[in-house]
Amino acid sequence: MEEAKKGLENIIALETSISSIDGVKGVLKYRGILVNDLLDMPYDAVSYLLIRGKLPDKNELAAYSALLKERRPAGENVLNVLRTCNFNIEAMDALRTAISYMSHCDPDLSDNSEEANLRKAANLVAKFPTIIAAFSRIAIGKEPVPPNPALSHGANFLYMLRGSKPTELEAEIMEKDFILSAEHELNASSFASRITASTLSDLYSAIITGICTLKGPLHGGARMAVMDMIDEIAVPEDSEAYVLEKMANNEKIMGFGHRVYLTQDPRTGIFKKLAKELAESRGNMKWYETGENIENAIFKVFTEKTHKPIYPNVDFYSGIVYKYLDIPPRLATAVFAIGRISGWIAHCMEQYSDNRVIRPRAKYVKAGQPPENEPLLSPKKKIVV
Ligand code: ACO
Repeated sequence: MEEAKKGLENIIALETSISSIDGVKGVLKYRGILVNDLLDMPYDAVSYLLIRGKLPDKNELAAYSALLKERRPAGENVLNVLRTCNFNIEAMDALRTAISYMSHCDPDLSDNSEEANLRKAANLVAKFPTIIAAFSRIAIGKEPVPPNPALSHGANFLYMLRGSKPTELEAEIMEKDFILSAEHELNASSFASRITASTLSDLYSAIITGICTLKGPLHGGARMAVMDMIDEIAVPEDSEAYVLEKMANNEKIMGFGHRVYLTQDPRTGIFKKLAKELAESRGNMKWYETGENIENAIFKVFTEKTHKPIYPNVDFYSGIVYKYLDIPPRLATAVFAIGRISGWIAHCMEQYSDNRVIRPRAKYVKAGQPPENEPLLSPKKKIVV
């Protein structure tokens, strides 16, 4: 039997027409179109592109946007489920619970036909922002704000979160964030969703798998960690010392490094520019400068130590953008998911359309002996239900 490839590095697991990455040149395309060329479109058009396989014409876009707007309200039962959540949790945990509850109410839960899945897809894309904004407000003792059908996907999310309309610049940047976060080839959460779909489990279950996988700090959870890191650094001038201390303690710097890109992630420069625009518009450069100083310090330290620089990934400057948009850190990964839901759905539908169960092999190796008399549960830890 062959040797296992730890982390499945560079393994081609399947074929896809949804997106492609050139990790050497730093190029990302959605359905053959450079992501940079999609940024001036509404998120709805990019969602349609990913899920339906082509850009919508004017009428198709109007119909899809109208459908999403109609599906935005979460419904009182879902809001009541959110009201029963533990409010110390991350929004990702509440999102997982709400989507699971939503699935109970769908009469076509187990119908994996394309028609049923397109209907579920619109429901999921439309309701993710409503659920996340509602959870955020309920958790701080406020009432959820109903969606506003006059606003774009991005503007409406910020409106439901804050209870007031965002500026034009904020709304535009929120849309761009959703577009840049929407899809990224066989990232861990999309692969995990596809594995669930490949067993012919339903779309909701596959999406919940994606949510659970995106949450981890080595994947989308890094965005929240970046926001916390920026807060830990009192002034931009302290950034280099912060990086050196982390490295001395063998800790990873969140928002840096990537499995596929050997150069700059093409989304990073765009997010950096958006962070700068927001910083200037608010007359507060501190978080942006802290980010830039961390980036420069890591580049310097890695180039000197290993002759191999590491670059910021998509989570770094997006985390700083979220700070300028007043998005609470515990919402960060869930806001990432608002964009990524379209990519997950596209992957699941591609999997259903030409399915074979995903079932690789493992090489058996004899385990080491566990220590003797190890208690099954630590007596100090209590699970409170
Ligand atoms: N900080 C410090 N060192 C790092 C970092 C980092 N952020 N990333 C990689 N390295 C170092 C590793 O310590 C390792 O060094 P070594 O060879 O001396 O042991 C080397 O670079 C290779 O790193 P791996 O962790 O083996 O790379 P892998 O491809 O397995 O992981 C990952 C990629 C998970 C993104 C990694 O770079 C990381 O943990 N980054 C921080 C978390 C993060 O930002 N995740 C978001 C990724 S983007 C996304 O998922 C949306």
